[in-house]
Amino acid sequence: MPLVLGQARTRRFFDWLAPSYDIVNAIIFRPEWRAKVRAALLPGRVLDIGVGTGFTSADVAGAVGIDLSSEMVSRARGYLGDLVLADAMSTPFRAGSFSTIVCAGSFYYLPDPLAALRGFHRLLRDGGRVVMLGPEAWFLRPLVRTFVRRDYEALAGETDFDLVQYESLRGVASLVVMEKQNVLP
Ligand SMILES: C[S@@+](CC[C@H](N)C(=O)[O-])C[C@H]1O[C@@H](n2cnc3c(N)ncnc32)[C@H](O)[C@@H]1O
Repeated sequence: MPLVLGQARTRRFFDWLAPSYDIVNAIIFRPEWRAKVRAALLPGRVLDIGVGTGFTSADVAGAVGIDLSSEMVSRARGYLGDLVLADAMSTPFRAGSFSTIVCAGSFYYLPDPLAALRGFHRLLRDGGRVVMLGPEAWFLRPLVRTFVRRDYEALAGETDFDLVQYESLRGVASLVVMEKQNVLP
């Protein structure tokens, strides 16, 4: 059972962590992983889910960030085009608003992954993509929920996404890219 689970606990945890988050991130979030996420973005409007302090998408033109934690959002202010303090499970955006949704270190905190992906599907334009960076290593399982390739395949299959990339990052983390299937006329 992961230690950080449930919306209230997650918010409290990240509010507490926010003042030292960038110091911790500089140690555990490798620059080449961030570069891979950035290289996978499509042209167009980007939504960063669980934006934190803006570490991943701060300088992406026009990027929008959403996060549960007010302490995180206050630190991202000024770096992103727009910031929303809200739960990613129920966002205030119109359907088809984004070309790419980024979940860097955040998807596995969402309480219902299937419902989350269905929500992302609605927010993306046709052919849009979700780019995720998440933990893969078995030793992280007591701390956070961990998905492996077959989990992402199953999730994509149930939500009208194609899993177009799964890359293990030294067995510690994984980069995942899912593309929204185009609706036939
Ligand atoms: C590990 S941090 C990642 C921050 C940032 N994406 C980065 O790359 O550094 C996870 C973030 O997800 C946010 N988060 C967790 N559950 C959320 C939810 N249901 N809705 C919105 N944000 C959430 C947390 O508040 C936290 O800021």
